[in-house]
Amino acid sequence: MAKNYQIAVIAGDGIGPEVVRQGLRVLRAAAEAHGFQVGLTEYPFGTEHWLRTQEIFPDAAFAEARRHDAVLLGAIGDPRAPVGLIERGVIGRLRWEGDLYVNLRPIKLYHERFCPLKDKKPEHVDMIIVRENTEDAYVQKPVFEHQGTADEVATQPMRYTRKGTERIIRYAFELARRRPRRQLTLIDKANAVRAQDLYTRVFAEVGKEYPDVKTEHAYIDAACMWMIKNPEWFDVAVTTNLFGDIITDLGAMIQGGMGIAASGNIHPGRCSMFEPIHGSFPKAAGKNIANPIATVMAIAMMLDFLGEKEAAAAVEGAVAELLRSGRIRSLKAGEHRTDELGDLVLDQLAAVKA
Ligand code: IPM
Ligand code: MG
Repeated sequence: MAKNYQIAVIAGDGIGPEVVRQGLRVLRAAAEAHGFQVGLTEYPFGTEHWLRTQEIFPDAAFAEARRHDAVLLGAIGDPRAPVGLIERGVIGRLRWEGDLYVNLRPIKLYHERFCPLKDKKPEHVDMIIVRENTEDAYVQKPVFEHQGTADEVATQPMRYTRKGTERIIRYAFELARRRPRRQLTLIDKANAVRAQDLYTRVFAEVGKEYPDVKTEHAYIDAACMWMIKNPEWFDVAVTTNLFGDIITDLGAMIQGGMGIAASGNIHPGRCSMFEPIHGSFPKAAGKNIANPIATVMAIAMMLDFLGEKEAAAAVEGAVAELLRSGRIRSLKAGEHRTDELGDLVLDQLAAVKA
């Protein structure tokens, strides 16, 4: 019997609904071509919904969404809501309460014309950042003492647990082992933030179980420098939540920008969430100019996670071919219409199948 995957869809704010619409067209086409079914449940959460109802992500809906096989998310964020409220309430809740401890962010260049770095080609930019996704300052309570006075003190600690550190490092080693280069770099700032000595120790310890994986280390500041100077130095890299957030925006730029960068928020074996890493881009909303390719790539990651390896490879391959052949001229917003890019991906998928 054909598999039937249940997907929860949170299109969200700004350009979210437009890019998700194109992503879902690609998902349906992939299902048809590869002989599986998808059932979608769409949820209205985001800033618009909050403005109307004061609801962010109600408990019952959260519980129901998590009973799906995966969640597809468009974008969350809108200046009409207090800073971070809806992002933390929707994306954060899925990541933290859902215990989606891996934030997987591939950085792959498909054609040199998308790379702003001089003389860097696809063979130089092909890495995966494994970002810890449930700890760090992100999940700590901000405290403001003596607020509004000259003596104000604000704190939100970087906190790491042994279990949290070990599981992300182990995931990264397993991933590195499955890639041809078998190299894993630990990125931290243990020279200044001594709490990250926990990462140093756990990396060395777990590394003993993976003698086939070559290990490297870089402090986050140097890693930023290396990513620009010698991106070919990286294969798989593992890092903390906050540093992972920052370095993956940098990574997105060397693979062609926010128009293509995708991510998976994963807990192996559990309902996981897939999203483009770009934001909601409110200025572009509703104009049919946003680039849906990052969402299409998030769908490829979701299919891979669900075990539909051929479909995942077909979707990624279709995008790769469109980029290489120049049918997708540019990844910048406005260079192609949003639905035109959806059409191109569908065409390419059909052409390969025919
Ligand atoms: C990301 C985003 C989020 C983060 C925001 C929206 C809270 O920047 O997914 O990288 O900081 O993790
Ligand atoms: Mg970010």
